[in-house]
This record gives sequence, structure tokens and C-alpha cells, in this order.
Amino acid sequence: MDYKELRHKYINFFKSKNHSHIPSASLIPENDPTVLFTTAGMHPLVPYLLGQKHPEGKRLVNWQKCIRTGDIDDVGDASHLTMFEMLGNWSLGDYFKKETIEYSFEFLKDVLGFDINKLHITVFEGDNDAPRDEESASYWKKLGIPDDRIHYKPKEDNWWGPAGNTGPCGPDTEMFIDTGIEKCSDNCSPGCRCSKYFEIWNDVFMQYNKNEDGSYSLLTQKNVDTGMGIERTVAMLQGKESVYETESFASIVKKIEDLSGKKYGFNEDITKAIRIISDHIRTAVFIIGDEKGINPSNIGAGYVVRRLIRRAIRYGKKLEIKSPFLSEISEVVIALMQEFYPELKQNKKRISDELNIEESKFEKTLQSGLQELEKILVKLNENNQKILSGRIAFKLYDTYGFPLEFTKEITEEKKIMVDVEGFNEAFEKHKELSKQAQAQNFKGGLADHTEKTTRLHTATHLLHRALKNILGEHVNQKGSNITSERLRFDFTHPEKINNETLKKIEDMVNEQIKKELDIKMEIMTLEEAKQKHATALFTDKYESKVKVYTIGDFSKEVCGGPHVNNLKELGKFKIIKEESSSAGIRRIKAILIDE
Ligand code: SER
Repeated sequence: MDYKELRHKYINFFKSKNHSHIPSASLIPENDPTVLFTTAGMHPLVPYLLGQKHPEGKRLVNWQKCIRTGDIDDVGDASHLTMFEMLGNWSLGDYFKKETIEYSFEFLKDVLGFDINKLHITVFEGDNDAPRDEESASYWKKLGIPDDRIHYKPKEDNWWGPAGNTGPCGPDTEMFIDTGIEKCSDNCSPGCRCSKYFEIWNDVFMQYNKNEDGSYSLLTQKNVDTGMGIERTVAMLQGKESVYETESFASIVKKIEDLSGKKYGFNEDITKAIRIISDHIRTAVFIIGDEKGINPSNIGAGYVVRRLIRRAIRYGKKLEIKSPFLSEISEVVIALMQEFYPELKQNKKRISDELNIEESKFEKTLQSGLQELEKILVKLNENNQKILSGRIAFKLYDTYGFPLEFTKEITEEKKIMVDVEGFNEAFEKHKELSKQAQAQNFKGGLADHTEKTTRLHTATHLLHRALKNILGEHVNQKGSNITSERLRFDFTHPEKINNETLKKIEDMVNEQIKKELDIKMEIMTLEEAKQKHATALFTDKYESKVKVYTIGDFSKEVCGGPHVNNLKELGKFKIIKEESSSAGIRRIKAILIDE
């Protein structure tokens, strides 16, 4: 049974139990600022779990694309993925534990034909917030699961949710398949991170709400939320060792083998690299190609895509794949998944454009990083030093995206060692600083220090437009320079601008910010941009395809980005200086103040 058949069997099974099939929602959650991505099928259903009426009724079923960035470091093993497909069925205040468990059992045994003797079950052991789930255990026993295959576990293991910081959650009962391999230790049991037990399905009994203060209260209705991982379940059905050997990945893996001339399974390093490239490109394709598509950038979800892409490229280098290769692999991903996610087909061109742009950007960064490192190595050699400091290794990581192993490989060829401890210290310090700096939303992702420059970048567009509106269309950009503190904008204008006019310009920018407009990005040819009256220096500097950033009907400008998603991220705009830059060119410096 493959990923297509499993999906249809699941939907049909629950349809036969009066569930309505609802579509997969966008990967970008609506109205939930606490997470970057949709992490489970229940995520878009939160309002209904809280009691709102769903237009399709009380019983729902679907497949949902999900992203869990927290699993990124585990990718490369047999089962962890950053993007996976989840089959789910829901009861919104309708059936509860008994029916849920009976449905799960019937589907696993009669429809999928799993050997029930390999099935292990976990249930919640109970604590101050909720009682021990003897009820669920009793239903499993009635269905024939013996005591020694029912395991009681604490909250860390058998409690699911909320998807963000607050919301519906509850105890769960999870289903695992014993793969038959040896236990990794005496304590090995379902939930252990080794590959002995594969978790395939989770039935959550959502009758609690987690509140802001960390306490739990009862919801008005008792809900059921279940989730079955398609990739893992197919792997188990087909007796495969990992999800990469199933249809969800096989042709991606094959493509990487062709491009690299290396064989999956040849050794651990190669297998791991191929898995990471497959996973990361697949996820990047889904994020960029989502109905609310997000492009690589330095903030939020955009930063996650950037990280995935760069990591894929680095592992591509390990396999000696020639760049550019991302877009070629993306075509395989799209071909595999478009039947279930038509948005990928619709956005095919944008996906490939964005991957190409990001790949060439990263190539350039890597090149300048390599030159920098060469210079440092020459110096160290001259001074007969044998150690590259942790601080420099970290700078290479932070500025040029060099992973530590990458730096180590290059320096060790020259018989120079890297101060790994120093690197780790610098890294920890950096993490601490960015943790402090980052707003506590972006739980699943990473905001970083360039968030500030991104905001100033967007403010520059607003300023540019306000200058044109107030001073006249003769105003043209002559230069722009942004640090984390301020923007600096040079433009053509014959005379000094008086304070009154400066105030008007400032007010116009702030007026726009107050409108909390979204920033829209489109890729088009320079010719199309011209026709749409986008502001740009229409010289040969722009490649034929350009990104056009639009802010309401106020500003439309050709630009490489990155920009904030919405003007409300900017705060208050303030001009701090106006001066001459050179003949016929004025200069404005401005800042953003957090409100
Ligand atoms: N929300 C639960 C999970 O993600 C069940 O779907 O496991």
C-alpha cells in the first residue's frame, strides 16, 4: 500500500463512519502569532475544538501538510521529517474515547492489515491536571491488547497540545509498531528515540484548555483529535526501514543519487546527507509553494526556509553535487505531490525562481567566506599558529553560513585545528543574545538580529515613496545604507528640505504604517514591472526577472528584499537628520522606534 492508497483508504474509512472530508489548510496558520507553521491537522480546527460550529459538521477527516521545525536536528534518522503529511479524524463534541479507539483498531487491523501482535499502546499515567487514563486502557484490553503491550507514560509523552502556547489539549493514547529490531537498552520502550518502535498514530482526547497562566480548564465540549503520519505508516506497511524508501521520497532520493553519483545506503554519511537534502528541499518547496507562499528571508518563516535551503546546499556539497541543483530536485517533489496539493503545481515557477535566487545568493556568500578563510589561514601560517580561534569560526558561521564541520574540514587540510570549545561558547552567547532579542512568538522558528534591518528596509520603501509624493517625481534613489540602528537614504533633490516639509514626509510614512498593510511580493519581468509603474532604476542592473514589493496602493518598488510581512512590525518612523550628500543629492537618516 503506497502513500496514495493509504490516504484514500483512510478518508473512505472515516467517510463510512459519517465523517466529512475537509481540505488540507495552508502551512501558515491564521490568527496564531505564537507559531510559524501549521504543526498538526487540529491546528486550523482550534476554533471548532473550542466550541464554534464547523460548517461540515461534528465529524471531520482529512490529510494535512504539517511542519515541525523542532525536529530539524533529528532529520537524517529513519523517521523524523520537517514536513510530513498527517491523516486525521476529528470529533467535535461528538464521539469520545470508546469509538475513537475502536475505529483506530478496526482501521489498523481490518483495513491496513497490520499484525496486531506488533502493536504497542501508550496511555497517560495521570497527574494533578488529569487522571490516569484507565478508561482508554480498558478499551484497548477489550480489543485484545495484553497488559504488557500497554504502557503508562507521563505528560511529556502522552499529552498533546496546545499547538501554540495556549488552547485545546489533552491526554492521548499512541499506537506504535514494533519493528522487531533489538531494544537499544533495558529502558527502551515505545516513545524511545531509537528506531525499534515506530509511532504511527496518536488519538488525543481534547477536553482541556491550557490557559495563559499555565493552568488547565475543562472545555465546553469533549473532542477527539487524531493524527497518523503517512510517511511512517507506509514505511511500516511496506516493511521498509525508513520513510525515505517509500513513494513519498523514493524518486527524490533517486534524483539525488543521479546528481551526485553516490548511492543511498552506501555508508551512513551518504545516506544521512541524501535524507537531509530530500527532507529539506521537500519542505522548502511546500513553504514557498504554499497558498500563502513564504520566500526565503531573514525573519520568521522566511528564515526557516532559508535555513533549510542552505543546509540542503551544504549537504549537497558534501556529496559533490554541482550547483545549482535545488530547482531540479524541486521538480521531482512537485511531480510527486501535486496530485494532493495542487498549489504546488500552480506555484511551480515561483518555487523554482525563489530556489534559484537563494541558491545563487548562498553560493556568493560561501565564496566570499572561503576567500576570508583563506586569508586567515595564510596569516596563521605566517605566524606559525596551529589553532583557529572559536571566535573566528563562529564569525564564519554567523556571517557566511559556514557550519563548524565545514570550517574544520578546510582548516584541517592545512593542519590547523579549530577551537571547538571557543566556537561553542561564542555560539551559546549568540543564542542567549538572540533569545533575549527575539519576541517570544516565533516559537517554532528563528527570528534573528537582522530583523531590525529588514524593518528599516521596508521603511526605506515608504520613505522613498513619501519623498516622491511630497517633493516630486524627480526624486530618485542614489544610495541606500542600512545598519541595525538606522537607515540612510540618498536621493536626487536640488535643495535643502525645511523642517516643516520633513515633518510632512515623516507623517506620511507613519500614516501608512498605521494602516497595518501587508507587503506583497511578486516576481515578474522588468518590463512588466515598468508597465505596472513600479519604482525602479530601469537600467541593466536588474536581471530580467525581478521581485516587486507592493505596499497597499502606496508603494510599488522593484527590490531584492527582504521585507517585513506587515507594516505593523515597523513601529514609529522618525527622521533624525537631513543633509547634503553631494551636489544635487540630499541624504536622510531615519530610525524606527518600537511602540
Ligand atoms: N495533534 C495530534 C498530533 O499531532 C494528533 O493529531 O499528534
